[in-house]
Amino acid sequence: MNSKFYVTTPIYYVNDKPHIGHAYTTVLADVLASFHRSMGDDTYFLTGTDEHGQKVENAAAKNGISPQQHADETVVRFQELWKELGITNDDFIRTTEARHKEVVREVLQELYDKGEIYKDEYTGWYCVGCERYFTEKDLVEGKCPDCGREVSALQEPNYFFRMSKYQDWLIDYIKTHPGFIQPAFRANETLGFLKQPLVDLCISRPKARLSWGIELPFDSDYVCYVWFDALINYISAVGYRRNDAEFARRWPARCQLIGKDILNTHSVYWPTMLKAMGIEMPKTIFAHGWWLTGNTKMSKSLGNVVNPREMIGLVGVDAFRYFLMAEMTLGNDASFTKEALLRRYNSDLANDLGNLLSRVVKLTLRAGGVIPAPGESTGNEAEFNAAVESAVSGMRSCLENMKLDQGLAAVLNAVRAGNRYVEQCAPWAMAKNNDTAHLNTVLYTVAANLRKLGVLLAPVMPGKMAELQRVLGGENEVLTIGDLASGNFADPAGRTVLESEPLFPRIQIEEEKAAAPCAKPEKKSKEKAAPAPEAVELVTIDQFCKVKLKTAKVVAAEKLEGADKLLKLKIDIGEAEVRPLVAGVAKYYTPEEIMGKTIVVVSNLQPATIRGAESRGMLLAAKFGKELRLVTVDGDVPAGADIG
Ligand code: MSP
Repeated sequence: MNSKFYVTTPIYYVNDKPHIGHAYTTVLADVLASFHRSMGDDTYFLTGTDEHGQKVENAAAKNGISPQQHADETVVRFQELWKELGITNDDFIRTTEARHKEVVREVLQELYDKGEIYKDEYTGWYCVGCERYFTEKDLVEGKCPDCGREVSALQEPNYFFRMSKYQDWLIDYIKTHPGFIQPAFRANETLGFLKQPLVDLCISRPKARLSWGIELPFDSDYVCYVWFDALINYISAVGYRRNDAEFARRWPARCQLIGKDILNTHSVYWPTMLKAMGIEMPKTIFAHGWWLTGNTKMSKSLGNVVNPREMIGLVGVDAFRYFLMAEMTLGNDASFTKEALLRRYNSDLANDLGNLLSRVVKLTLRAGGVIPAPGESTGNEAEFNAAVESAVSGMRSCLENMKLDQGLAAVLNAVRAGNRYVEQCAPWAMAKNNDTAHLNTVLYTVAANLRKLGVLLAPVMPGKMAELQRVLGGENEVLTIGDLASGNFADPAGRTVLESEPLFPRIQIEEEKAAAPCAKPEKKSKEKAAPAPEAVELVTIDQFCKVKLKTAKVVAAEKLEGADKLLKLKIDIGEAEVRPLVAGVAKYYTPEEIMGKTIVVVSNLQPATIRGAESRGMLLAAKFGKELRLVTVDGDVPAGADIG
């Protein structure tokens, strides 16, 4: 074993459905864990769920069940999604498990006994949604600084953790350990926050107000504040106070992944708690950015939250994982659109990687089906081989520096060099001319390099890369990055390739599909007769009711630059909401003609970015012959009226 690698994700609240943000952090942790396993490190990967607190209590009350029942029912959603996403976590911790609760109580008791926790009167403001206490000056315009909701004034006795006494130590620790909080600008953000006096952390909630939590061992009228409870999962899961050998083997964590919104709890609360417990700091707390829908923050109220299951359905689990890893530069925000997902799928995976594999497989099958030993050099190998070597050697440092997108870009760069190499060599001509000496070199070089690149991509796309190795004659062979580094890399010569389906079949994208009015122009085709009535697919009333149709008034219209079929509209959809909508009607309506019309739109369509413009909805139109007419409503109907 080289070294230890313990990676954690935040534990997710069970009050919600898992979305792309949760999926992203978990896939990222999985990819890092798989890379480190492949490099021979003693790897451990923890994820889990945060099951106490106000949010869960409220969600359970809304459903008329107990919080435990609620947690038991909803935790499954996360566990099932992780299975679907091929997540290889070693443990899954739930904060309602006895193994966790007991450790939290012991920690609380010890800190209380040491005088690190004390009772005092709390006077200030409280945000129910965030379960956080605020001072007067924390508030923004009298509201919660985090969520913007109303706060309530509070005065009550509570227990406090002496966080303030660690302020100077923490500032010094962050300054002297540059890798501790990453990226560096997040360390600076924390240092900025620490310029103000740090106050002690209120770690209790009176049961009279919130009962769903871990009871304080020294006062049964209180439960523990959910963050103080939740953060301890990172150590309770790996043997703290229960199994010293296991704890020493895992801790300190090498990488604690979080989203940027939970930076303070991890860069201030968590280190000071560990310090008070006398525990070593994790090596790195890494805050990634957010996935946005197009350029907009994802939120339930906007209805633009991306559902990971839908994306898996669209491109498959491996390609979805690849997109998440390749598209986000770690630390920054990234934009999610279905179009970008499909574009990257088709370019990187179908056109580049899949194409290179199918070229070598087809050519080898034509030449007898066995990967030959290399013959004479064609003189073209150098660039391809160098690109592969640089991808192999670069991956380790990209991982070390959390530049996964760059590591993957180098792999794709090598794949493209491979396709160029094939084009330069034109092995089909070599086969035709019986130039076996050169043909063998090309087939060998592509197969050997693809095997290496497959190893580098396996942590991101485990299923597809196992298939790639199988097709190249390496069934049941487990190749690791350790093998690549040590040169123990099994030679592909002599292996039989397998006839196979395309690894990443191209997905047809009609760029303007999302913008097309519902009634798509029927393609004039002689063969295509109108469908017989019985061939029309029927929908149930429930299915139809899922489509929310509304009236909307066009309040702005202009041509979309660079797209002659598209108009960029602003529509008033009622309740003071004005939305952007891109419509494929420019051939039939000028902006002036459509302006002011009351039209009919699908209001709950997944948002899309079309030619760089955001579109939230789709208008309805009737198409006949070469004509298209907008669907409008009879009489004077206001914007936002329901249609059904
Ligand atoms: N329960 C706490 C964490 C406790 S850890 C001791 C929590 N849970 S959460 O379910 O609300 O969020 C978990 C993670 O999802 C956070 O890291 C958050 O940043 C991340 N994401 C939520 N929305 C996101 C995006 N749109 N994009 C990327 N990640 C985001 O906070």
